[in-house]
Amino acid sequence: MLAFNDLADFPHAEIGSLLKLAARLEREPEPRALEGKVLSLLFLNPSLRTLASFQAAMVRLGGGSFVISPEMSIHGLESRSGIVMDGVAAEHIREAVPVIASYGDAIGIRAFAERLNLDDDLADRRFAELAALADKPTINMESAINHPCQSLADWKTMDELAIPSTGGRFVLSWAYHPKALPLAVPAATVHMAAMRGMDVVVLRPPGFELPDAVMDKARAAAEASGGRVSETEDRREAMEGAHVIYAKSWSSTRHYTDRLADQALREELTGWCVDEPWFDNAREDCRFMHCLPVRRGVVVADRILDGPRSVVIREAQNRMLVQMAVLYRMLKG
Ligand code: CP
Repeated sequence: MLAFNDLADFPHAEIGSLLKLAARLEREPEPRALEGKVLSLLFLNPSLRTLASFQAAMVRLGGGSFVISPEMSIHGLESRSGIVMDGVAAEHIREAVPVIASYGDAIGIRAFAERLNLDDDLADRRFAELAALADKPTINMESAINHPCQSLADWKTMDELAIPSTGGRFVLSWAYHPKALPLAVPAATVHMAAMRGMDVVVLRPPGFELPDAVMDKARAAAEASGGRVSETEDRREAMEGAHVIYAKSWSSTRHYTDRLADQALREELTGWCVDEPWFDNAREDCRFMHCLPVRRGVVVADRILDGPRSVVIREAQNRMLVQMAVLYRMLKG
């Protein structure tokens, strides 16, 4: 495996094979499988789960890892092209990435959306440019429009809970958050659930429609898997018979580069906080999923997060297990 940047790069059977490998490595640990291998981790944005789970995954397979992030760099990293570097930053990403990559056998890169241009972010230009600077296999640890490691972990979580693929109803719901958040998780999630063959409903208020490119990609995946993708602003309609609600906030794509307009729109939507009445017409055992971090009492009520519906901790645990499978395939040869 030369890259793990997008679930769409893999046939359905290959995803199944990775999930089986993750389950095998959980059941039958291989603590020397990646002995002598090194994973370089470049975090241009903050993390808890991704940072810790990749490091733990490498240790559990007998390898090692190192982390570079702007906060710890004594030089300060510049990423703009064609700039005269007469400010604080003393090192450009164009040298930093190949150097970091040269110390490892694969490189994970986290680079969130810059939110300067929607088309650039939909095309994942920043991540593609960074990945192209590395001459080693790359792993997308969350880019402007993708988070394949999270999606693989979420797929595994649903398999473990026996949530049906065909006929399973998956609601991806927008939720209130005081800040305009990136599109990476919702875009990756709607595609993952469609690829899994589920009946996917995107529930969102007016103004927070997912971009056509995101919906078209999900619809193409659904067509191939026998799933379905629709969208609505009607909560009762969306939740009818739902097996899963996956909550996530995202920015308004109508006002993608206009933070004040986005703010004005979302200020009216504080009621989009997932709570028990949302589940009135869902299946009794409908689960609550979220990639974390999550704001309690803002995105979701405490009683949901602390109650039996929530599987957020299992999702996070599965990050390490699926990443072990990805690293094993990428580095063991
Ligand atoms: N879900 C996720 O990627 O978490 P972190 O941002 O903490 O890595």
